[in-house]
Amino acid sequence: MSLRQLLKDATGLVLSADTVERAVRERMLRLDLTPDARADYAPQPGTPEFAALVDLVVVPESWMFRDPAVFETAVRFVQRRLLSHPGRPVSVLSLPCAGGEEPYSMAMALAHAGIPPGLCRIEAVDLSHAAIERARLGRYTRNAFRGTDLAFREHWFRQDGDAYLIDDALRRYVGFSQGNLLEAAAPPRKGPRYDLVFCRNLLIYFDEPARMVAAAALQDLLADDGLLLSGFAEAPAFCRAGFAPQSLRDSYALQKQSVATVRRRARLAPAEPAIAPRPVAAAARTAPQPAPLAAGPVAALIAEARRQADAGRLAEAHQTCQEALALQPEQAEAWFLLGMVSECGGQPHAAERHLRRCLYLQPDHYEALCSLALLHELRGDTQDAALLRQRAARVHAAEVAP
Ligand SMILES: C[S@@+](CC[C@H](N)C(=O)[O-])C[C@H]1O[C@@H](n2cnc3c(N)ncnc32)[C@H](O)[C@@H]1O
Repeated sequence: MSLRQLLKDATGLVLSADTVERAVRERMLRLDLTPDARADYAPQPGTPEFAALVDLVVVPESWMFRDPAVFETAVRFVQRRLLSHPGRPVSVLSLPCAGGEEPYSMAMALAHAGIPPGLCRIEAVDLSHAAIERARLGRYTRNAFRGTDLAFREHWFRQDGDAYLIDDALRRYVGFSQGNLLEAAAPPRKGPRYDLVFCRNLLIYFDEPARMVAAAALQDLLADDGLLLSGFAEAPAFCRAGFAPQSLRDSYALQKQSVATVRRRARLAPAEPAIAPRPVAAAARTAPQPAPLAAGPVAALIAEARRQADAGRLAEAHQTCQEALALQPEQAEAWFLLGMVSECGGQPHAAERHLRRCLYLQPDHYEALCSLALLHELRGDTQDAALLRQRAARVHAAEVAP
């Protein structure tokens, strides 16, 4: 079997021949091997040399508060969990965690919300040994700080030469270990499942069979009433594998499908009490925001429809959207909500019509693009879904660009 295939089987990563050869050359250089030894260079899975090669083909790209809205959602979830299960610490898994940027961002968000390490424990896992070593070191260059407001860096990091060293108070929230998501036993936990799982920006590097294996492993790792936070472009793949968006707004916040379906069908509000969250770091406020709402009575109707929809009162939300559209037929947000309400009500064709209307009126409506992509995915139209996801990714990139 080729080295490329061995790497693919071991990691799930779809790698180009060039990437593999570049990594091989680098290893051979470090081992002081001459090019004519290439034919004999064939490390086997499970050996330290194979692991060293894996470290060179992974993409450990990450930064602090990547997609800030995700951390706000995560903290809100932890707060609700603490209210509904008093005295029980919330367990969080960050997999893959790369060099620790994601779990440390969560630690900062928790600290900012006044939640101490004893009430929320984060386990952070990555395939790359080198990434885990970097994470344990907690020393970051400027590349890890990409937002415009870096007040959190002043607060939680100490300058160390040209880098920044993380505060020990944050280390207390997080434990790091090396592991492979594709090996169900690898995440270092036995016993209860995780309340909250971050699995972001990994499935984009997998092919479909590996995505399904990964999603099945996450179904096992996540508590039945837990929350999975995916990358924006990855939600559709998870939805093909038994997950569903938790609410109409946060398409990246996923629940096990059985839970989502029961709530929708029973038209229940989320089981846990909603409380007003304390805001996450100001620096984390560059997330894509929904399109500005209309003013006056139309804005009020749309806000009301959103509340009704989020509470599962779909018929009322539908009626309220119609009232908003009667007043202002060109209101994209109302068409978007109508689309989501139809989708939740099991009317995908109507949902598609409404979402297309929304995008006709507002071509850069991020959530409508994601939702329409999801509808296409669900009916197996992967080509159009991919195009819509690319459009969504461009909108997202433009919105978060400094
Ligand atoms: C782009 S980073 C994502 C990090 C972080 N979640 C984020 O969104 O910023 C992808 C990480 O996935 C890790 N990885 C690749 N294959 C993996 C696997 N099979 N199991 C666990 N981690 C894996 C890589 O080592 C890399 O650090």
